Amino acid sequence: MSGVNDIRSQFLDYFAREGHEIAPSSSLVPRNDPTLMFTNAGMVQFKNVFTGLETRAIPRAVTAQKCVRAGGKHNDLDNVGYTARHHTFFEMLGNFSFGDYFKDRAIELAWTLVTKEFGLPAERLLATVYAEDDEAFNLWKKIAGLPEDRIIRIPTSDNFWQMGDTGPCGPCSEIFFDHGENIPGGPPGSPDEDGDRFIEIWNLVFMQFEQQPGGERIPLPKPSIDTGMGLERIAAVMQGVHDNYDIDLFRSLIAASEEVTGVPASGEQEVSHKVIADHLRATSFLIADGVMPSNEGRGYVLRRIMRRAMRHAHLLGARDPVLCRLVPALVREMGRAYPELGRAEEMITETLELEEQRFRRTLDRGLALLDEATEPLDEGGTLDGETAFKLYDTYGFPLDLTQDALRGRGLTVDVESFDAAMERQRAEARKAWAGSGEAAVETVWYAVKDRVGATDFLGYETDAAEAIVTALVADGKETDRLEAGTSGAVVLNQTPFYGESGGQVGDTGTISAPGVRFRVTDTQKKADGVFVHLGTVEEGVLVPELAVDLSIDAARRASIRANHSATHLVHAALRKVLGTHVAQKGSLVAPDRLRFDFSHNKPISAEELAEVEEISNRIVLQNDRVATRLMALEDAVEAGAMALFGEKYADEVRVVAMGHEPGEDGREKTYSMELCGGTHVGRTGEIGLVTVVSESAVSAGVRRIEAFTADQARRYLEDQDRRLREVANVLKVSVADVVERAAALADDKRRLERELADTRRKLALAGPAEAGGGEEVKTVGSVKFMGRAVEGIGGKDLKGLVDDAKKQLESGIVVIVSRADDGKAGIVVGVTKDLTGRFNAVDLVRAGSEALGGKGGGGRPDMAQAGGPNSADAAQAIAAVEAAVAAAG
Ligand code: SER
Repeated sequence: MSGVNDIRSQFLDYFAREGHEIAPSSSLVPRNDPTLMFTNAGMVQFKNVFTGLETRAIPRAVTAQKCVRAGGKHNDLDNVGYTARHHTFFEMLGNFSFGDYFKDRAIELAWTLVTKEFGLPAERLLATVYAEDDEAFNLWKKIAGLPEDRIIRIPTSDNFWQMGDTGPCGPCSEIFFDHGENIPGGPPGSPDEDGDRFIEIWNLVFMQFEQQPGGERIPLPKPSIDTGMGLERIAAVMQGVHDNYDIDLFRSLIAASEEVTGVPASGEQEVSHKVIADHLRATSFLIADGVMPSNEGRGYVLRRIMRRAMRHAHLLGARDPVLCRLVPALVREMGRAYPELGRAEEMITETLELEEQRFRRTLDRGLALLDEATEPLDEGGTLDGETAFKLYDTYGFPLDLTQDALRGRGLTVDVESFDAAMERQRAEARKAWAGSGEAAVETVWYAVKDRVGATDFLGYETDAAEAIVTALVADGKETDRLEAGTSGAVVLNQTPFYGESGGQVGDTGTISAPGVRFRVTDTQKKADGVFVHLGTVEEGVLVPELAVDLSIDAARRASIRANHSATHLVHAALRKVLGTHVAQKGSLVAPDRLRFDFSHNKPISAEELAEVEEISNRIVLQNDRVATRLMALEDAVEAGAMALFGEKYADEVRVVAMGHEPGEDGREKTYSMELCGGTHVGRTGEIGLVTVVSESAVSAGVRRIEAFTADQARRYLEDQDRRLREVANVLKVSVADVVERAAALADDKRRLERELADTRRKLALAGPAEAGGGEEVKTVGSVKFMGRAVEGIGGKDLKGLVDDAKKQLESGIVVIVSRADDGKAGIVVGVTKDLTGRFNAVDLVRAGSEALGGKGGGGRPDMAQAGGPNSADAAQAIAAVEAAVAAAG
C-alpha cells in the first residue's frame, strides 16, 4: 500500500520527470495576496505569474501545497469531523503551466498519472467539463478514450474555478472516481450527486481570465494550467478506503489521540477524534508559519480552530491539556516533508498547552451555562443570541464553537441577535473612549480600529507583502483620497511595517500600486493595534480599497534587528557584570545604534565595559537561533524572563530568548530571556559584533550606554584603528609601542617644563635689573628695596622668585613684575618678616597692580599677588610700589 508520504513523492517525481520544477510549498499566510485569509490552493503562490506580473525561468512547476480552508471564501470548518472529506488543513498536489502547455497536454499528463503511475482502473474514472467547453470534451474522448456518457457537461459554477473574489480563474474539468454501486450516490450533475459514490479527485483548471475587483473579467496574457488534487482524497482512493480519515496518516494521528485520551475512536466519539486530528494539523502548521492565537483576523481563526478541538477533547473526557501531547505524532508523520514543523515543534507545543490551560479555566463553566440555557429547548430549537454572546464575551466561546456544541442536539443559535449584542458592546466601548483625555485626541484611530479592526502584523516573517488600504487620514481626519504631494497616514489590513514600540523605531519604506507611490517615513501603533503608515504620496492617488504592494527598507530593518537583539545581550551582560540591580529604564533601538538606560549609581569602569562587550560577543559567536514564543505572563516571569517594571502586559506575552551558558547545576541554560514585541535576528551571529561606544550619566542613579553592532561596529573600530596608526606614525614607533612611547613623552614633557621654569627663575634673578633706577637693590627710606621686571614666569614660579630675592636681601622689600606673551602682567610683592609690622605686601601690590591697569590683589602681609592688562607699564608698576614704600616708611 502506498502511504501518504509515498504518494506525495510519486506525484512530485512524475511531474519533475515531465520537465516541471519542484517548488516548495509557500506559507499558509499568503504574502502576495491581501484578499486571502490563508493560502487555499496550490496556485496562490503563482498568482502573479499567471497574470504576467512575475516570470519564472522554467514555465512549468509542481507542488505539494499546504492549504487551510477556514475563515475567508473557502471555509470548511463547520463540517470538519462530521463528513468523510472536509478538512481545515489539507495538502493540494498540483502541476502548473505558465503559458506553456494547455488543455491537451494537461489532460494527457493527468490521465497518464492516474491510470499508469497510480494504477487506477480507467473504467472507474469519469470527467466533467464546463458545459460550453467542447474542446475539453473532445480531448477527454481522444486522449483518455472516455466514452461520451462518462464525460459530463456541467453548466454551473462548479466547473468554473475562482481563487477568491478577485484573481486568476477559468473553466475547469474534474476527474471523478466511482466507488462502485454498493455506495449510494449519483454521478456529478445528477440530483443525488452529493452521495458518496462518485468522488472528485482532481481539478484541472484552464486558467484564462483574471477577475477584477469591479466584476470585469480580463484575459490572462497566456492561457495557463492550474491543477489541484487533494492528497488526502487520492490517498483514500489508492488505499481502498472511503473516508479520508481512514488513510494511514490520519489513522496514526487518531491512534495518538486515542492514546492520550484513553478513549477509542468509535461510536459518538469518532467525530471528536477526527476533529482533533484535523485541527491538530491546521493549528500546528499555522503556528509554524507564524500565526499566533489572538482575538483578531488570522489569529482569531486559529483560536477558533484550537478551541473547537479543545471542546472535543473535553467531550472525550480529557481534563488536562492533551492536544500539545499529540505534536510529536504529527512531526513523525509530516516532519520530513515539511521541516518547518520540526523546527517549530517546541513553539507549537507550548502555544497549544498555553491555550489549553487558558481555555480550560472557562470551558467547564461555559458548558454548564450552555446546558442550562438549552435544557428547555427541543430539537430544532434556537438558543438566544444574548446567551451565545455571553459565552463568547465571558467564557471565550467563539460563535462556531457554540454552534458546534449544539449541532449534535439539532439546535441552532439566533445569529442575528448575537450580532446585535456584539454591536451594542462596540457602541459602549466607543462611548467610553470618545469621552476621555488622551483617547479623545486619538479619537480618529479608535474610530478606524472600530471599523476595520487591528492590523495584522506580518513583519516578524517578511519584509514585503500585499495589502488593502482600509483607511486614510490627513490633518487628523479620515479622508477618501490622498493626492500626490500630500502627507498623511495610511492604514492597511495587514503590514510588514513595524510600528514604533518598545524602544524600536518604526519602519520606513514604500507603499505602491501601478502609478501610485507613497513613501513611508515612519510607522506608529495607535489605538491598541492599528498600524499607521506616515508619509507622503509621491505619485498618483491613494484611495480606500486599493490593493497595494508593501516593501519596507529591508537593509535598515536588518540593522534594527541586530541592534535590538544586541540590546538584550548587553542588558543581560550588564546584570552579570554590575549586579542584578541593573534594570532597564529606557532604550532606543535605531538603525545606526542602540541606546540603553539602566539603574546604576556610579560610572562604569573601562574594565567593566570591556567585560560587557566580551560576554555579549561570546553569545554572538554561539550563533544560536533566537527563539520567540508566546507564554502566559506568569509563566514567563516565573521562567525568569525580564519584564519592565511598571509596564502593562497582556495575559499572553511574546518572549524572546537567545544564547546559552552553563547554569549553576552545570546544565546549559538560556542566556537572555525578555518579554519583547520587537523584531530580532534569526541567529545571534547576524549581530556580527557588539561595541560599546559611550557611557554616561542620564540622571541620578541612571546610566546610559550606547553601542554599535555589525557594520557600524566594524566601521567604528576601523576608524579607531586608523587613528591609532596615525598616532604611531607621528610618534615614529610601531603600534605595539605607542602606549609606552606616549607615556615616556608625557614624562619628558613634565620634566622639561620643570627644568624650563627653574632655568627661567635662575635667569631672571641673574640678569641685570631694568627697572628701579638701574640699581638692583637700593635703599628706600630705611629699608632695602629690590624691583625687577622678568619675562613669562607663571604665578607659582613668580612667588618662588620673590622668596629667593627676600632671602638674598635678608631684610627688605621685593617687587617683581612678570610680562606674559599675551601682553598682560603679573606682579608679586614680598616683605621680609621683620618688616611686616611696618609694611603690608597686600597694600603695596595694589599700588603696583593699579599701574598695570588692574584692580585689587590678594595675599598675606609678607607676600601678595595681583595682575593687570598692561605689561608695557611694568616699570611704572615698580615705581608705584617704591613710592608706596617711601610713603609708608
Ligand atoms: N485551483 C484549483 C483548486 O483549488 C486547482 O488547483 O481546485
